[in-house]
Amino acid sequence: MADTDSHVTIHMVASLDGFIARKDGRVDWLQTSDKFVGGHTMDPGFVEAFLKTIDCYVMGSRTYETALRFEALGLGWAYGDKPTFVLTSRDLPRTRNTVEFHSGDLAHFVNGRLRPRFRTIWFVGGGMVSGECLRLGLADEVRYSIVPVLIGDGIPFFEKLDRDIALHLAEVKAYENGMVELRYEVRGLAAT
Ligand SMILES: NC(=O)c1ccc[n+]([C@@H]2O[C@H](COP(=O)([O-])OP(=O)(O)OC[C@H]3O[C@@H](n4cnc5c(N)ncnc54)[C@H](OP(=O)(O)O)[C@@H]3O)[C@@H](O)[C@H]2O)c1
Repeated sequence: MADTDSHVTIHMVASLDGFIARKDGRVDWLQTSDKFVGGHTMDPGFVEAFLKTIDCYVMGSRTYETALRFEALGLGWAYGDKPTFVLTSRDLPRTRNTVEFHSGDLAHFVNGRLRPRFRTIWFVGGGMVSGECLRLGLADEVRYSIVPVLIGDGIPFFEKLDRDIALHLAEVKAYENGMVELRYEVRGLAAT
């Protein structure tokens, strides 16, 4: 039985034209030099406290492989000591005890295994997994952070949606670096 208190969030950062990475996976465009006068500052203390509220992460294998590459470059592991579930059908390297691999029915995994154990479940990409999560009606919330740049082509935030998904805009916050954070509650899938 699913824990009714549990909450599934999809969060990623995208260009204004809706891409989370270039086609070849590069995310060099995430660093911009914009300044938005009057925007909020990213307070490291607030970010740290906020990250503590996340109970576990879920990601696709390609996002995991990117995270491993970042770590190998000395850029650290973004998911702290939180349980991190990687969706894959392959045999991938496991570099820390907090990482667990999963394959198979995603709805059963989220509702049967994650929701009873964790209150705050964050899907952190990529586009394939966020699309699957929405198609299956598993997400309660979408957090969409827009970087002030257009990149023309790339991997979309939501891959292969097959119907409309109604959202409720719950929060908008603009930062001094020009990033806009949108938080939507998922109202439901339209009938096909
Ligand atoms: N801008 C951002 O905030 C952000 C965030 C996250 C990622 N990214 C970027 O997005 C790119 C990756 O996104 P992506 O859409 O290409 O891939 P992805 O969603 O990270 O991973 C897709 C892979 O996950 C596995 N998978 C998905 N659903 C599964 C399921 N139910 N059961 C088992 N395995 C499943 C499959 O791989 P197998 O072959 O392993 O089975 C699939 O090919 C990377 O370049 C990354 O850097 C950007």
